[in-house]
Amino acid sequence: MNPVATPLVEHFHHAPTGTITYLVRDPAGRAAAIIDPVLDYDPAAARTSTVSVDAVLARVRGQQLDVQWILETHAHADHLSAAGYLHDVLGAPVGIGRGIIAVQRHFSDLFGWGDTFAADGSDFDRLFDDGDCLALGSLQVQMLATPGHTVDGMTYCIGDAAFIGDTLFAPASGTARTDFPGGDAAQLHASIRRLLALPAQTRLFLCHDYPDEGKPVTTHATVAEQAVHNVHVGGEVGQQDFIARRRRRDSALPVPRLILPALQVNLRGGRLPPAEDDGVSYLRIPLNQLDAGS
Ligand SMILES: [Fe+2]
Repeated sequence: MNPVATPLVEHFHHAPTGTITYLVRDPAGRAAAIIDPVLDYDPAAARTSTVSVDAVLARVRGQQLDVQWILETHAHADHLSAAGYLHDVLGAPVGIGRGIIAVQRHFSDLFGWGDTFAADGSDFDRLFDDGDCLALGSLQVQMLATPGHTVDGMTYCIGDAAFIGDTLFAPASGTARTDFPGGDAAQLHASIRRLLALPAQTRLFLCHDYPDEGKPVTTHATVAEQAVHNVHVGGEVGQQDFIARRRRRDSALPVPRLILPALQVNLRGGRLPPAEDDGVSYLRIPLNQLDAGS
């Protein structure tokens, strides 16, 4: 049997949103992928910037990496994606799970986009299905559908590393919320069981961590660590207990601060809405339409 590949993984923690962007590379060459890049956004000033993601680009250039894919683990509601910007700079395709179409349809209605938005996944270069596989230099990227937090949740398995999006958080923080449209606690439980069935030493890389000031960021835990210590699923918590726990927790969570701006960009592959006649790109704020967590 071939030994399991060990990709090199660098992380970039975006402190304002707690998001972790990963730069993953083939140790045997220059092939690389960027997972979950973040576009800076100041909601009070309605201003975007690329300062954070430019630090990722500096590493790419410094190591002369060949970025072959920009991957989204799901449609994020807590931060704006820089995938469109990276696509323009690097020319690499942007991929996401096929479930994005359902998310696009739901929110296209909420935003009243009508015929101006296709809602067919065409804002992305590639839609992945469970079991799909890509080459990344000498590495293989295998897609594992992990819905539950969102319907489009996709885990990217690369050698001994798996980029799990919002399924599991760090063991002390538990699991992701399931109260977004298309979210489903039973489905998340099943997705987590799939992740915990990966080899015990697999590094499960998190999409978020919110360390206290001065504390280090937790980027990953192994399958073995999550299986024992995760406060929501450790020790093989049964599906019914998990659902009850998740619902209790979700009912107390606030609506994500950036959900409206984030989705209007992220559903377009990380691009701002098309400029209007005056050359300005506008976001829409539908009043009294959003329930907690949806
Ligand atoms: Fe999320």
